[in-house]
Amino acid sequence: LRPIHRLLSCPRTVAAEIKREEQSSGSVETGSEGRTPKKTFSEVQKERREQAQRTVLIHCPNKISVKKFLKYLSQHGPINNHFFYESFGLYAVVEFCQKESVTSLQNGTRTPSMGTEAAIPFRSRVFNLKTKNPSNPTSEQSRVQCSIHAPPSSKKLLELLCYAESIDDQLNTLLKELQLTEENTKLRYLTCSLIEDIAAAYFLDCTVRPFGSSVNSFGKLGCDLDMFLDLDEIGKFSANKTSGNFLMEFQVKNVPSERIATQKILSVIGECLDHFGPGCVGVQKILNARCPLVRFSHQASGFQCDLTTNNRIALKSSELLYIYGALDSRVRALVFSIRCWARAHSLTSSIPGSWITNFSLTMMVIFFLQRRSPPILPTLDSLKTLADAEDKCVIEGHNCTFVRDLNKIKPSGNTETLELLLKEFFEYFGNFAFNKNSINIRQGREQNKPESSPLHIQNPFETSLNISKNVSQSQLQKFVDLARESAWILNQEDKDRPSSSRSQPWGLAALLMPSVVNSASLAKRVRKKPASERIKSLLESIKSSSPENATSTNGK
Ligand code: GTP
Ligand code: MG
Repeated sequence: LRPIHRLLSCPRTVAAEIKREEQSSGSVETGSEGRTPKKTFSEVQKERREQAQRTVLIHCPNKISVKKFLKYLSQHGPINNHFFYESFGLYAVVEFCQKESVTSLQNGTRTPSMGTEAAIPFRSRVFNLKTKNPSNPTSEQSRVQCSIHAPPSSKKLLELLCYAESIDDQLNTLLKELQLTEENTKLRYLTCSLIEDIAAAYFLDCTVRPFGSSVNSFGKLGCDLDMFLDLDEIGKFSANKTSGNFLMEFQVKNVPSERIATQKILSVIGECLDHFGPGCVGVQKILNARCPLVRFSHQASGFQCDLTTNNRIALKSSELLYIYGALDSRVRALVFSIRCWARAHSLTSSIPGSWITNFSLTMMVIFFLQRRSPPILPTLDSLKTLADAEDKCVIEGHNCTFVRDLNKIKPSGNTETLELLLKEFFEYFGNFAFNKNSINIRQGREQNKPESSPLHIQNPFETSLNISKNVSQSQLQKFVDLARESAWILNQEDKDRPSSSRSQPWGLAALLMPSVVNSASLAKRVRKKPASERIKSLLESIKSSSPENATSTNGK
């Protein structure tokens, strides 16, 4: 996190510095910054997975000599990368150059002998480092510098936004402050890799892959870690090796359906996590859900994890979002701001319910950007047209084909500012005919709603499904009302933006304030205007909340 005092003392210089940093940060690692990332989604996944496999997690004493610690570990081989963080104590993430070093470290590690309790001797890649002589600290032992894995507080964020130079700057600042850091991303892949070790005890050669916001480039610090147990790769390679007249098959147990197989597999993995998984606590098996899952907290990393299996379409959705996020630098800035705005007004929640989800909001932003003139994002159908034979992908009968090489997609000629896009987003959805139209990123245009859910967003791959079926009429109405109010606030900003004094939250910061505060400031601003204008605004607001207008969103 950038030190706040620097921003407070010299906002303009630092704002310029942020811009420079942004321009120069072509993070090849995530492949998500810059216009054309060098690596495809699967290349990034493969590289990160391989890195994670030669990485260990070590719980350390609070004070430690980093130099001695690294020297001690180097006995097992050279270290490529390391960082420290705090989560129920001090942890070190240490990435060796070679995988063999991990085995060497494991071979030199003992299982603790317990007092009255008994240890289950499970050899994982999570360790405890003990000092042999704790009562005799050396002068080199000191508090280590920790990387930060939590988002800044709302107060700090609002401060930063108030010091930005423009609304465009505000959106970029928000993105920079909330997006996953390099270390946090590494920790996410490592956690999946640690869970994979446990699952591999039963299903040799299985893969545990992160998906959702941890990898789709829209993840915010603190977001959950969605992972899926991929059993599809098992046995794929050996199948081609057979020659002659015979074919070998594993003798297996059969169950009546794919769903039951999923439930049985997740049930046993859930038990393993609960009994043997170091730091896996609060394991819940939610096997009767539409998509069965095991939910648990991974204490050492601090992540709330959702483990599913048979979820290749969700991984494909993550890849699609990753591509959209990487195509134009405005996409992620806008999505982060809209997600943050929705959270600030309790339009979204961490608890499932009748509210809109972050996934649906992201789809709405993508759709909106496809509707600009000229479009900022291409339709999914046009990404499918650009695909070649190698991109072909059919999952459970659904065609999930789209071009995966970003360099083949023509950049947009649209030069609209983030400020304009934010305002237009609120105006567009504040007036969208939700009662009759469906949002469809495949074709990039409104379609007639095939069913009567208040909000209909077509699932891009399973096209007969609605990803926002859960959203109630009242939640949709709340979204529409807030969108209209936010468009109004931004329009007012245009008119009476103070040039010198910015003691009040302005621009994006004003939109993130609780609505009651907004109402108060709105009332104040309305009062400042001449009577004729006040009456005009009043009439307009009555018109927009009249029953005739409300029917445009109530699905009747
Ligand atoms: P966060 O709120 O930051 O966790 O965003 P997220 O994108 O990770 O959302 P979430 O954890 O709810 O879901 C993880 C992934 O599952 C999403 O990215 C989607 O790929 C998929 N997903 C979530 N909800 C739906 C849905 O309603 N339908 C379908 N088809 N996929 C969904
Ligand atoms: Mg998630």
